Amino acid sequence: MNKHDKTPLHIALVMDGNGRWAASQGRERAFGHASGTESVRACIRAALSTGVRYLTLYAFSTENWERPREEVEGLMDLLCDSIAKESPELARQGVRVMVIGARAGLSERVRRHIEAIESETAGGKNLTVVLAVNYSARSELVRAASLIAADAIAGGLSPVMITEAALAEKLYTAEIPDPDMIVRTGGEQRLSNFLLWQAAYSELYFTPVMWPDFGEEEFRGAVEEYGRRERRFGKLTNSY
Ligand code: FPP
Repeated sequence: MNKHDKTPLHIALVMDGNGRWAASQGRERAFGHASGTESVRACIRAALSTGVRYLTLYAFSTENWERPREEVEGLMDLLCDSIAKESPELARQGVRVMVIGARAGLSERVRRHIEAIESETAGGKNLTVVLAVNYSARSELVRAASLIAADAIAGGLSPVMITEAALAEKLYTAEIPDPDMIVRTGGEQRLSNFLLWQAAYSELYFTPVMWPDFGEEEFRGAVEEYGRRERRFGKLTNSY
């Protein structure tokens, strides 16, 4: 249970604006990404103190491979370094880290870091941080369709058994509730191939704040805004 009804159980974050934030300070993009890790830490602290139980972070999309090689390598190094550095403290705080996305497309080194933090934090009960790495929502849906087809061919599944629940079970997020709110920083107002199935009823929150400036206070602001939203899931309510 959350601290009160209106606390979102799950917030998903599109961490956008690192490059522009760095440019505005006359610095390299890598400086923006490195500063962005401070915001990740701040949001984890704020999630723990507000009672949010799941925090999903869009760390690297399948489209991000198209960026210059140096930037991609820098992001992978930052991910590995952050994982190695933060893992003990996250475990101490009762934070469980899970990684979603196409793992086979990642280097052996990144895969080893991911497996290490997943096993070191597996006992965390206070908050689940889901890192989306080499993630694409469309690829996730194609993979689910393929897994369902394989089950059908193997004879365990007939077409009438393909329900919404059966499909959701084949997503990377099978054990994770859908996000109550999706937050995107950096001023753009789009989902960019993030959690397309899971976002069906998510509240959307767009802020012009660049990711490195998104701290505990901004996170609490998003949680408060969620409390003011009325979610109807397509139904009518008594309000009018
Ligand atoms: C988008 O900003 C941000 C990313 C592609 C990377 C996000 C990564 C981090 C915040 C750091 C690593 C994360 C973890 C979990 C350790 P952008 O580069 O697209 O910014 P721009 O739109 O201003 O160019």
